[in-house]
Amino acid sequence: MARTDPHAVLLHKFADRSAHIAILGMGYVGLPLAVAFAEAGFTRVTGLDIDAGKLAALQRGESYVEDISAERVARIVGVNLFTSSDFDATLASADVAIICVPTPLNKTRDPDIRALTAASEAIARALHPGMLISLESTTYPGTTDELLRPMFEARGLRAGQDFFLVFSPERIDPGRKDFVVETTPKIVGGVSPACCEVGVALYRQAIRSVVAVSSSQAAEMSKLLENTFRAVNIALVNEIALMCDKLGIDVWEVIDAAATKPYGFMKFTPGPGVGGHCIPLDPHYLSWKLRTLNYNARFVQLADEINSGMPAYWVGKVQDALNEHEKAIKGSRVLVLGVAYKKDIDDVRESPALDIIELLRQKGARVSYHDPHVPRIDHGGVTLRSEPDLAAALDAADCVVVVTDHSAYDWPAIARQARLVVDTRRALPRA
Ligand SMILES: NC(=O)c1ccc[n+]([C@@H]2O[C@H](COP(=O)([O-])OP(=O)(O)OC[C@H]3O[C@@H](n4cnc5c(N)ncnc54)[C@H](O)[C@@H]3O)[C@@H](O)[C@H]2O)c1
Repeated sequence: MARTDPHAVLLHKFADRSAHIAILGMGYVGLPLAVAFAEAGFTRVTGLDIDAGKLAALQRGESYVEDISAERVARIVGVNLFTSSDFDATLASADVAIICVPTPLNKTRDPDIRALTAASEAIARALHPGMLISLESTTYPGTTDELLRPMFEARGLRAGQDFFLVFSPERIDPGRKDFVVETTPKIVGGVSPACCEVGVALYRQAIRSVVAVSSSQAAEMSKLLENTFRAVNIALVNEIALMCDKLGIDVWEVIDAAATKPYGFMKFTPGPGVGGHCIPLDPHYLSWKLRTLNYNARFVQLADEINSGMPAYWVGKVQDALNEHEKAIKGSRVLVLGVAYKKDIDDVRESPALDIIELLRQKGARVSYHDPHVPRIDHGGVTLRSEPDLAAALDAADCVVVVTDHSAYDWPAIARQARLVVDTRRALPRA
């Protein structure tokens, strides 16, 4: 094959690590990915972002993502990891553009793809033969082929021949140590077989196991299956917890018993609801797409209803517990322990703790919080700061609500010190 063939040229540049990789969006997904490619030996990885503060932090050798240490950033920044806010100049020389921008919901809980469109438009302006574009942001099935492909082909180049286009879902699980970017199998689906082949060739350089699927739609749907699976199973176990509560049965004993079955059962645990940028949002991308086809995604709807009802359920439990102690919730001091959406991370996006705090405040409680990972939260026009002295905060609280079971907490000590505890995670010793 001639070396001018865009396909062959790209594969060669991946093999010798000379391909210039541009990553659009340097957040929880983009930064670890950029670090993985730089550490795999690519000589030029450029992080693009509209947030000048993040770029400046990286240039100073700092990290704002807990899983990536500042030492790792400092070792590669200015060596083979670079940052830029000049999208046009960077993308003009990029062989690869990877999109890792947010895909949130708007006020009516429909997909808000403005960041995705803006990033894709920037790539389209700079599109040149021999470029690979990979979309990693979670989105509805059809986005890569129906939205991005026409945007790029409008430049007069053909996908699969002149440039290559894939969807490769990001599976990173913040806080997880056993599976990181390099060791989590990566799915790649192209808008053509040649696109898939080029996409697989890129990711193989940095990720141990790469799984090719037949289309970008299959790759998009696989990500939505994974996260809808989690949302539905968490909702199921939350509903089992509500049922057990009514029946006077200890749901945790039931779950532990069921989990002794060596096959056909996967353990999920109940809690305060779901949070983060994925589980509460992604299934809505699926149901939105299906609504355009006159199909009602019933499991998604039901799971959302149950999971988003959990904060109110737990606030009811706080009210009942205070009532048992002859106290009204109004005026009581309630300390929320942990506000991150899950243990050992600093992310409060969509965290059920925010809803719990808001509902408690609406009922007149005097709410404070403590979280070793989250120094401050701004929500609903209110700013709260983590209590500086946990022991003093426990002493002062009429009721403590355990929302996030961070490993840093000494649960037996908390159990001894707190007057009254409502534990949404079974973090405290059972007795
Ligand atoms: N956080 C996770 O655990 C996780 C896991 C799997 C998939 N995802 C998906 O990955 C995507 C990114 O999520 P995240 O958690 O990294 O978000 P994030 O908010 O942490 O990071 C996104 C970054 O994109 C930047 N940005 C916004 N618009 C941009 C633009 N037009 N051009 C360039 N940069 C832009 C933002 O400034 C931000 O730094 C989402 O689709 C999300 O659903 C996230």
